Amino acid sequence: MQTILIVGATSSIAQACMHEWAQTGQVQRFICIARNPEKLALFTQDFSIRYPKICIDNHSIAFDNLALLRLTMEQCFAQKIDQALLAQGMMFQDERAINLDELTTMINVNMTSTATLLSEIYKYMHLQGTGKIGVIGSVAGDRGRNANYLYGASKAFIATYAEGLQHRAALERSAVTVSLIKPGPTQSEMTKHLIAQGKKLAKVEDVAQQIVNGMQRGKSTIYAPKIWRIIMLIIRHLPFFIFKKINI
Ligand SMILES: NC(=O)c1ccc[n+]([C@@H]2O[C@H](COP(=O)([O-])OP(=O)(O)OC[C@H]3O[C@@H](n4cnc5c(N)ncnc54)[C@H](OP(=O)(O)O)[C@@H]3O)[C@@H](O)[C@H]2O)c1
Repeated sequence: MQTILIVGATSSIAQACMHEWAQTGQVQRFICIARNPEKLALFTQDFSIRYPKICIDNHSIAFDNLALLRLTMEQCFAQKIDQALLAQGMMFQDERAINLDELTTMINVNMTSTATLLSEIYKYMHLQGTGKIGVIGSVAGDRGRNANYLYGASKAFIATYAEGLQHRAALERSAVTVSLIKPGPTQSEMTKHLIAQGKKLAKVEDVAQQIVNGMQRGKSTIYAPKIWRIIMLIIRHLPFFIFKKINI
């Protein structure tokens, strides 16, 4: 039976993963971390009714408080943690309109907190001799696009960090696996404006299934849905003289 740590546990994708994991019957405890205690409690109360045999611990933390994030990891790893999913992330509908405070918040949430947590979680899992880490980047990190290159740059940071950590784990012959998750546009709280515009997005349950299966297999990169691996292969390799003419 597994204990699974979920950071950004109020995320639609993270919650769909929790349902997926719960339905395997292999989970005894979720440790949930999110910034908003009321929103988190609302979800975990309902979740506990559906899966009464699974214990849930809730922690609420401001993601710019790196010292508290580190301390919370130390407390969480007082017990063995089998898997950890990092799902916190934010995006702006109009990146060019944001102010300096919003930029700082995005850097803290998407980049600094993620790097800090990845480093701490890897350290503790390596010490315990086992563990699977999943961190949610995005297809937006694969190539800078006019629509969202600030968000894309923050996800490219996560991709490079995860790749470096995978390299470190290999050289240290660690049993810990690090999976970089790259969802395509997915139905969630973050994309509700796109859903309202009638855009066709992936179902969060399908994305969650790919994430849970991919992490279980220790895959280094998980595109979800899988078709995005091919789409991004093409987009990444488009010569710039063609790319610059397409508004994607
Ligand atoms: N949906 C997509 O199309 C898509 C595609 C590619 C990648 N992703 C990535 O997938 C992950 C999960 O996103 P989602 O789609 O599930 O969206 P979501 O439901 O909006 O979840 C975003 C998560 O990040 C947290 N968060 C946002 N701003 C925060 C802040 N300032 N401080 C602390 N936490 C903050 C949210 O907390 P609150 O609930 O308190 O707001 C929530 O837990 C994100 O990393 C996102 O970038 C999503």
